[in-house]
Amino acid sequence: MYKQIRAVVASDFEAVNQVIVDQLYSDVALVESIGHYIIDAGGKRMRPVLVLLSARSCSYKGTDHIRLAAVIEFIHTATLLHDDVVDMSAMRRGRPTANEKWNNPSSVLVGDFIYSRAFQILVSIGSMDIMRIIADTTNRIAEGEVLQLINKHNSAATQEGYMNVIRHKTAILFQAAAECGALLAGATDAQRAILRDAGMHIGMAFQLIDDVLDYDGDAATMGKNVGDDLAEGKPTLPLIHAMRNADAEDAALLRRCIEAGGQQGIENRELVLQRVIAIVRKCGSLEYTRELAFKQADTAIALLQGLPDTPYRTALLDMANLSVRRSS
Ligand code: IPE
Ligand code: IPE
Ligand code: MG
Ligand code: MG
Repeated sequence: MYKQIRAVVASDFEAVNQVIVDQLYSDVALVESIGHYIIDAGGKRMRPVLVLLSARSCSYKGTDHIRLAAVIEFIHTATLLHDDVVDMSAMRRGRPTANEKWNNPSSVLVGDFIYSRAFQILVSIGSMDIMRIIADTTNRIAEGEVLQLINKHNSAATQEGYMNVIRHKTAILFQAAAECGALLAGATDAQRAILRDAGMHIGMAFQLIDDVLDYDGDAATMGKNVGDDLAEGKPTLPLIHAMRNADAEDAALLRRCIEAGGQQGIENRELVLQRVIAIVRKCGSLEYTRELAFKQADTAIALLQGLPDTPYRTALLDMANLSVRRSS
């Protein structure tokens, strides 16, 4: 399905990838090495595709959407470099993470470089409105990651709190991608609102599924490890739901896992993970989380129906579907 989506903006997509590669230049060799290491590993490029489709669905005829899409992917890439340090993750995009291959300081600092390069490119687009949205967006992503940090090891975390975290850390960037595409195209206020809100719901669906896949996915397909969230004591929705629905003994184990994170000391990581997965399945928590993701995607789909019927709108609808029907 994703190939089909990308085909609608094939030449734009190729141009974005070219800008991304071209914009990694630096006089400092380590910056280029790490930058290329993570960029060349691929990634789905969903957010830049969203920018392209959003602009095109509002009849955009210019070329600034290419650089805007690269800006959004750079911001995403920078958050990944930082996120893998914070989460102590060892695998990303099918390779050892940059923090694993180099070290934490290098990942953080090259992440900063890529962040700031995004803003350099953004200035060249020259729209104060777009700059404001992107500045606010990166600020809120940072808040989201901090909110999540505060919630680590918190076995009293609630669904509401969790939804707030994922809105900040993930959905807001999808929202910005879709809204800025519309803004660039000079869309009507109504179209802009549709794309902004649809982007947000796609992002929510996307992260809900990401959190299911962390228990239910296949590491080789995802290109990242299963069980990272549990190892860190991250109370994502599958665990929050299971804690509320498991019997007393199972719920106590889940609470201990969240509170102790990787340091359970009861068995090794893999054994604990298998026990937790069994509990989460028994409680229907993956289904519950998937259901919520489907609701988010359905809301996005209903909104997108309000756009003119074009191949770009069809691809946006496919994108909403893909955000929930994905294994990587
Ligand atoms: C990973 O995003 C981070 C999340 C918000 C879950 P993606 O799954 O889009 O990562 P890449 O870019 O395809 O590697
Ligand atoms: C990623 O969240 C969100 C950001 C990068 C801001 P996760 O920590 O759940 O993503 P993965 O699982 O590492 O890709
Ligand atoms: Mg992570
Ligand atoms: Mg995750």
